[in-house]
Amino acid sequence: MRKPNFPSATAAASCRECAAVPRRAFLCDAGLFIAFAALPVEFLSSLQVLGDEAVYPLPARDGAGIDKDRAVIVVRYQNAVYAFVLWCPHQRTALRWYDDMQRFECPKHHSKYQPTGIFIEGRATRGMDRYALRKSGDTIVVDLATAYQQDKDLAGWEAAVVKL
Ligand code: FES
Repeated sequence: MRKPNFPSATAAASCRECAAVPRRAFLCDAGLFIAFAALPVEFLSSLQVLGDEAVYPLPARDGAGIDKDRAVIVVRYQNAVYAFVLWCPHQRTALRWYDDMQRFECPKHHSKYQPTGIFIEGRATRGMDRYALRKSGDTIVVDLATAYQQDKDLAGWEAAVVKL
């Protein structure tokens, strides 16, 4: 497990500028706009941040949510919840969701990932990095200081899921 690398100050500033654009435009720019009901994407705001932990509402249905301030993607998919680092594991580009193919894809070199973060193909060499997380009542608590890389800590990566 390791503390995640976050993008440069320039990239972070660019993300902050996104807050000034309409919701749909931001989601498109972030590559996370999902237009169909089967796996919708929404903005997420943490309910609370305590130290390195961010608390989110437990997603009520399948879908993806992005906390742009913390570069976290929370996904509920097939009775499980995951929290991903927004950035592609190859060169840390913001990942996009392609609703027609039901997968994440990197716009830079086109690595592809399942909704669970499992790597499909492309230049990346591992799945999407997963944050440690746990369920607490009706919330999901994400440990922002602990991100698992599939190729370095497979057991940790595989355990970074909340089964519902
Ligand atoms: S940056 Fe994502 S595949 Fe290269």
